[in-house]
Amino acid sequence: MSVAVTRASTRPAAGSSSGESGSEARLLAELERLRTRVDAALERWLPKCGFGPGRIHEAMRYSLFAGGKRLRPALALLACELLGGRERDALPVACAFEVIHTYSLIHDDLPAMDDDDFRRGKPSSHKQFGEAMAILAGDGLLTFAFELVTRTPAAERIPALVREVAVAAGTLGMVGGQVLDLDATATSGGTAALLEEIHLRKTAAMILGSARAGGVAAGGAASDLAALGRYGKHLGLAFQIADDLLDVEGATEQLGKTAGKDAQAGKLTYPALFGLAASRREARSHVEAAQAALSRFGDRADRLRALAAYVVSRTH
Ligand code: IPE
Ligand code: IPE
Ligand code: MG
Ligand code: MG
Ligand code: MG
Repeated sequence: MSVAVTRASTRPAAGSSSGESGSEARLLAELERLRTRVDAALERWLPKCGFGPGRIHEAMRYSLFAGGKRLRPALALLACELLGGRERDALPVACAFEVIHTYSLIHDDLPAMDDDDFRRGKPSSHKQFGEAMAILAGDGLLTFAFELVTRTPAAERIPALVREVAVAAGTLGMVGGQVLDLDATATSGGTAALLEEIHLRKTAAMILGSARAGGVAAGGAASDLAALGRYGKHLGLAFQIADDLLDVEGATEQLGKTAGKDAQAGKLTYPALFGLAASRREARSHVEAAQAALSRFGDRADRLRALAAYVVSRTH
């Protein structure tokens, strides 16, 4: 069975009260353009379904092409352009972040983790292919990401890009955050500091890594990369608070993943700890901090500013 996903926006989620503004409409068009570019590159570079052993490439492609927002690769491409790079400089590492993000979703949904049957509007990988293949599809995607990075045209930048990807995805980043998330419940001593650390690692690390990697691919200066990192950190924190809010306020059909799972599992989330109104305020303050981090770039960074606002106004 698959869940029909309607992408109709009914109301703003965590942020804007005025609905879709002109700048948000322009941003959505730009995100759509970037999504097309990223999907075409992934289609070209990913091993084909019938190629190699068994169903592994079918399983990898099933989750990757199920319709994600492609936020992380969009960030990498926009950051690269901001620092004067070309699209092709950042496309391999942008795809690498999306491929790793998809692996993290497959493993996040496993029965041993969040035990979620739906993802991106379709049955989760383990429901479709079984647990063993879902684990291996994740392993395959993670490994393939590093092969992708080697396609970066400026070979001298590849070591720094490998480092950005590995640090973001590793035990001090996403994997570490997932470890802390496993044991954190809303009732057993969950604190604001722990919650922020979980969000920093499990979500913000990959988002700030995408922004920084786009800058590295453009050959950006250390001070510009640091600004992109600050922007990405606050963007990532706002993004995960919005995700927690959508779990409470969204519907399964709209989200493409099961709504209400966090409360059901007693997870430590912003709404559980602070309530909806304070969570919305916190998300908005991270959006403002993300936008402030871009001040050195002037109006050249307007699309990244609009992306920060979108992260909390999105409805899926
Ligand atoms: C979901 O990420 C997992 C979190 C880090 C909250 P996204 O909301 O970016 O998922 P897709 O890629 O659009 O499916
Ligand atoms: C997951 O956070 C973050 C990852 C590293 C995948 P969630 O568990 O809240 O993500 P969803 O709600 O299942 O997408
Ligand atoms: Mg999770
Ligand atoms: Mg989950
Ligand atoms: Mg969630």
